[in-house]
Amino acid sequence: MLEKLTQLREEIKRSLVNAVPESIEALRVRMLGKKGEITAVLKGLGQLEPEERRKMGVAANELRDWAQNAIDGAKAAAGATQQAQALSEETIDITLPGRRRGIGRLHPLTQVYGKLEELFISLGFDIVEGPHVETVYHNFDALCTPESHPSRDETDTFYFNDGLLLRCHTSPMQVRVMEKQKPPIRVVVPGKVFRRDDVDATHTPAFHQMEGLVIDKGIHFGDFKGMLELLAAHIFGPQTKIRLRPSFFPFTEPSAEVDITCYICGGKAQHEPCRVCKDSGWVELWGCGMVHPEVLRKSGIDPDIYSGYAFGLGVDRITSALYGISDPRFYFENDMQFLKQF
Ligand code: DAH
Repeated sequence: MLEKLTQLREEIKRSLVNAVPESIEALRVRMLGKKGEITAVLKGLGQLEPEERRKMGVAANELRDWAQNAIDGAKAAAGATQQAQALSEETIDITLPGRRRGIGRLHPLTQVYGKLEELFISLGFDIVEGPHVETVYHNFDALCTPESHPSRDETDTFYFNDGLLLRCHTSPMQVRVMEKQKPPIRVVVPGKVFRRDDVDATHTPAFHQMEGLVIDKGIHFGDFKGMLELLAAHIFGPQTKIRLRPSFFPFTEPSAEVDITCYICGGKAQHEPCRVCKDSGWVELWGCGMVHPEVLRKSGIDPDIYSGYAFGLGVDRITSALYGISDPRFYFENDMQFLKQF
């Protein structure tokens, strides 16, 4: 029996040399677990003669205590070794050069929206956004656009059932703002608009506008012209001149188109060839006018007390003009070669 105990002690000593925590635990179970070898010796003591039992009991208990201590000690040492090794392997080499991350940038249309918003905020305008899915009422009827108007045709506008459509301009937000808010009103509305155009070098079925609306007592065309001059100078530079040409929109009276002096030839091209202004010296940029009294009335504002102006900026067009971009399809293609330039 004593020999058996000596064997077990030797086996434990051998097993603990260079052991890892997992094998030490396995050894503990094999020796000291419920069905372990040392446990079996202790259990077997009861069958021995009293004299033998006393002697063996002392030796077996001593072995058990020694084994417990040896295993605990080895486990702690092996754990510390493993941790030290892991730490040394995980050391960060701070002398390695870092990995450079590409710096993103804003889409050119977003940049121009930002530039426009910067000016309008400085002039005291609020920025509001409206729904892409609009009612036929807000998109057309409230803006005095008759049933017979070509823009209402199925071939021009995307219709849903139930009197809904994809807005073909940001102008319906004029109505929504006036329905909710009493004058003075000073808002701009950035956003996407949709028309049933096939994609080509001058058309995309979605594009970008910024609507503007100012309503107060005594607003007249002179106020408007001053604001347009500021706007043209802010976007295209202080040398830029504007020209207002009479036009027609069902929801403004009078209506006008805003032209600016050509940003390529500086308005000199009447005498030399210019592909952008086609030698006229002027580039057409956006529509505008004094809000029609009937539009004010339909939106709950008394046209005998209030007046105002409105404009619809073509943001794709302004961006193309600003950066000399020849084709609006570039805005939608996510081509990094293109986008990286701005
Ligand atoms: N909504 C017009 C369009 O998309 C542009 C426009 C013209 C807006 C005159 C206006 C305006 O606010 O007064 O063609």
